Amino acid sequence: MTDPLHDPLPASPHDEPNGELDGELDGELLSLALEAARRAGELLRDGRPDDLAVAATKSSPIDVVTEMDIAAEKLITGFLADARPDDGFLGEEGASTAGTSGVRWIVDPLDGTVNYLYGLPTWAVSIAAERDGETVAGVVEVPMRGETYRAVRGGGAFCGDRPLRCRPAPPLDQALVSTGFNYVEQVRRHQAEVARLLIPRLRDIRRGGSAAVDLCDVAAGRLDGYYERGLHPWDLAAGDLIAREAGALTGSRPGEPPSRDLAVAASPGVFAPLQRLLDDLGAWHD
Ligand code: IPD
Ligand code: CA
Ligand code: CA
Repeated sequence: MTDPLHDPLPASPHDEPNGELDGELDGELLSLALEAARRAGELLRDGRPDDLAVAATKSSPIDVVTEMDIAAEKLITGFLADARPDDGFLGEEGASTAGTSGVRWIVDPLDGTVNYLYGLPTWAVSIAAERDGETVAGVVEVPMRGETYRAVRGGGAFCGDRPLRCRPAPPLDQALVSTGFNYVEQVRRHQAEVARLLIPRLRDIRRGGSAAVDLCDVAAGRLDGYYERGLHPWDLAAGDLIAREAGALTGSRPGEPPSRDLAVAASPGVFAPLQRLLDDLGAWHD
C-alpha cells in the first residue's frame, strides 16, 4: 500500500530537473502569449464599434462586459488551444478548463473595460502562462500606447526590447502610488476611506483604470507603487510577474502573496512601508 505522506510523489514530466527544457517551454509559451495578445489587441483597437454598448453586467450594475471583451477572449483561447490543445484555461469571460499538460493560461482579454467603453486609452490584454501553478510567462499588450510588456520567470522584464527596472525608492511621503476601486459598492466605500487616510501620507494617488497597466507602470518606473483589493487572478497574473522581474516586490498582507484580499506592488524601499501602512489601515477587509 502507498503511504501518501512518506512515499515520493510519482514523477511527472514537469518535475524533471531539466532547466534547459523548462526554459525552452517557457520561451515557447511566451511567444504564443505575445502573438495571442497582439492579435487580440489589434481586434480591440481596430474593431471597436463607434456605438459600443454594454452587453451584460456582472458583480454590480457598473461591472460591465461588452461584445468586444467576449470576442477578444474567444480569439485568444482559440489561438492558444489550436497551438496547445492539452493546456487549461482560466479566462475572465468564462474560459475554464483544467487541461492535462500542467500548463494553464490565465486571460483577461480586456483589462480596463470601462476605459475602453468610454474611449479612454488605458486598457490592455493580459495573458499569463502558469506551469504547475506558478506563473512562468506573462504578456500585457497596451495597444493605445503601442507598448508590449513581457516577462519570463527568471529572465527579466521588457517593454518591447527595453529591459525594465522599477524606480529607485523615494520616502513613502514622496511616493506616487496607483490604486483601483472595486465594482461592489460596499467594497468601494471602504476603499474610499482607505484612500482618504492614505492621500495625505503619499506624494499622490493615481487611478488609471487597468490593474495590468498599473503593474507594468510599476515595472517601468512610472509609478512607485500600486495596491488594490478585490482583484482576480486574470487581473494580476501577467502584471505581477512583469513587476517582479523588473525588481519590484509584490505581496498582500505581510508575508503573503498577492491575492483577492489585497495586491501590493512597489519598488523595494516603498514596498514594506506601504504594505505596513495598508495593513494598519485594514485595506484588505471592511
Ligand atoms: C478592472 C480593472 C480596474 C480595477 C478593477 C478590475 P476589468 O478590470 O483592472 O483597474 O480597478 O478591479 O476589475 O473589469 O476592466 O477587466
Ligand atoms: Ca480586469
Ligand atoms: Ca476584463
